[in-house]
Amino acid sequence: MWAGKKILLGITGGIAAYKSIHLARLFVKAGAEVQVVLTPSARDFVTPLSLSALTGRPVYTDTFEPESGQWNNHVELGLWADVMVIAPATANTLSKMANGLCDNLLLATYLSARCPIFFAPAMDLDMYAHPAVQQNIARLQSFGNYLIDAEVGPLASGLEGKGRMAEPEHIFQHIEQFFAAKSSLAKKKVLINGGPTYEYIDPVRFIGNHSSGDTAVFLAWEAHKRGAEVTLVLGPTRYKNDIFPFTVKHVTSALEMLDVFLPLSADSDIVICSAAVADYRPKVTFQQKIKKNEQNLLIELEKNPDILATLGKRKKENQVLIGFALETENQIENARKKLINKNVDAIVLNSPSQATGFSTPTNQVSVLFKDGTTATSQLVLKEKLASWLWDMFLKSLHL
Ligand code: CTP
Repeated sequence: MWAGKKILLGITGGIAAYKSIHLARLFVKAGAEVQVVLTPSARDFVTPLSLSALTGRPVYTDTFEPESGQWNNHVELGLWADVMVIAPATANTLSKMANGLCDNLLLATYLSARCPIFFAPAMDLDMYAHPAVQQNIARLQSFGNYLIDAEVGPLASGLEGKGRMAEPEHIFQHIEQFFAAKSSLAKKKVLINGGPTYEYIDPVRFIGNHSSGDTAVFLAWEAHKRGAEVTLVLGPTRYKNDIFPFTVKHVTSALEMLDVFLPLSADSDIVICSAAVADYRPKVTFQQKIKKNEQNLLIELEKNPDILATLGKRKKENQVLIGFALETENQIENARKKLINKNVDAIVLNSPSQATGFSTPTNQVSVLFKDGTTATSQLVLKEKLASWLWDMFLKSLHL
């Protein structure tokens, strides 16, 4: 897995920098190519000589080296790497990264890099706990960077607490897991639907629900990260104008979703139906806005097709079909009925509450598999849940 992998190792000026020499060695020993970039203050903690002897490559600090006249191209460095690992990442560098500052080669490389970026903070416990630092970390994560969280233990200050850079072995494992996960869905075609559907009564009113589409979007991102060719079909959500690195089709009603989804499903390896499809639509959609009068208004509803059940009937032998179930009572029993009646391989059971459900950033689910086994997640951010779900699908459905 490691052979030929290109790691850009950014080292900043903290006492933990000495551990990054060992980290560079772990990468090299595993078969990776390692290019080190030091910030100017990192040179006070580690010498370029030891790192270049270990990696077999020159170590860069400045964009321009006056003695040799050499120009170190940050854009090329950023494009060269499969991953960039910044370890240790000091409070100062974290702040600059979070705000787009660019006063050294490491920061310029970070800003130009297109590859996944991991950062391993290291600082004293009170600095680490400071809201400014925590906000910078959260901001960096919101840009899609991966945090390798600081660990608890004795600190250089003599105090003890959270702030130590993760041990080099732990950082190495993080990157290894990332590479392993990245290829776990390689060559698979994954089709996902999500969000609500809107069933129009007249030009301004519709029957809909509060589904955000977040779970579908995170599942799609995670499948993409793991190497799948992803198509996402979304009902009306806030993601209307977002640009994704995979195919996204926007639809409005259940009938439209079926029209788009069904042909795509024919050659998909894994199909996930997480959309909160409206079960009914108005029998008539009025062309003009309905005017109120003295009488009550009766709207006749007719049944929408069940997209998941339709796919269940046409499922091919080596196609995997996964549904969702939203239940408020007899949850396991009802979800299992859906699993059987709709002929799916797994059902993800949701229950709406304050912490789980449509408009919350977190969720906790159980997955019921065809073979009778179940798995229950922790209450986590939906983004994390997507990763957990793919781990479960891969393991229990032998993908
Ligand atoms: N589903 C679908 N088409 C529908 C209704 C639901 O594809 N018209 C799918 C959902 O995407 C989900 C699963 O069926 O994967 C279960 O949806 P849910 O709303 O929990 O249940 P329903 O089948 O609609 O049954 P009920 O509302 O009676 O619980």
